[in-house]
Amino acid sequence: MTYEHITVEPIAGACGAEIGGVDLSQDLDDATFGEIKQAFVDNQVIFFRDQTLTEDQHKDFGKRFGTLNIHPRYVPLEGHPEIFPIRKDPEDSRIVGDSWHHDLTHLPEPPLGAILYGLDVPPVGGDTMFASQYLAYETLSDGLKETLESLKGVHDNRIQAPNVTTARNDERTSKLREGDNSEEPECEHPVVITHPESGRKALYVNKIRTHRFAGMTEEESRPLLDYLCEHAIKPEFTCRFRWRKGSIAFWDNRCVMHKALNDYPGHKRYMNRVTVNGTRPV
Ligand code: SIN
Repeated sequence: MTYEHITVEPIAGACGAEIGGVDLSQDLDDATFGEIKQAFVDNQVIFFRDQTLTEDQHKDFGKRFGTLNIHPRYVPLEGHPEIFPIRKDPEDSRIVGDSWHHDLTHLPEPPLGAILYGLDVPPVGGDTMFASQYLAYETLSDGLKETLESLKGVHDNRIQAPNVTTARNDERTSKLREGDNSEEPECEHPVVITHPESGRKALYVNKIRTHRFAGMTEEESRPLLDYLCEHAIKPEFTCRFRWRKGSIAFWDNRCVMHKALNDYPGHKRYMNRVTVNGTRPV
């Protein structure tokens, strides 16, 4: 693919590219937007540097890709229900998203992707890792691929359930809503999904929300699930993004997992996240 309106520089062999020549605070013409969308589909996660966005501009960029998600559990940014503030203060011991995961896969229609904007980042550390689930799938044996075709994963949101809320909130500045006992039912998704735009197959299980295969117990499912979740994050499937103030990462939740690194004790890291709704994985 050649680009005329933006520059696209891959940052790793597996996934991830830095996009240049664009100011996301401006209304993007259709040609530039089309190239950004193509770069997103081709690279699985894209990055922008040196952006200055208001909350509304951040949301407007997200809305070019679809409707915006309101996080089912986290307290939103005041006045902006569609913005999920990801905050770590120097005294916090916990952060948001420090295990490998896809976002919100317990929902029938998990997000298409999320756009994370760095407001205040530590001098060093706090990078975000991404892992290509296309490569995770493509490197499995034909025998295992065939077995997985018939399996569905059962996803739930026990990691953010009301019974863990208070303990988490004590250790972290990003807060889950206390006293929220709303039900979040389990949801089944195929273990291998086909990306609606690229047509490529991707592995679609993650350790924090997939706890069994449909029709099996957790104990029965565990060995294969553990194998898949470990395989899915091999270093050669990953890229690592080093943040600067004003950087943006936009990941495709249908084909990458991500993980935030908690390696900056005593420092602050403030990000705003806008999440774009997706469709039912098939
Ligand atoms: C997340 O959205 O899971 C957190 C990502 C990050 O803070 O780098």
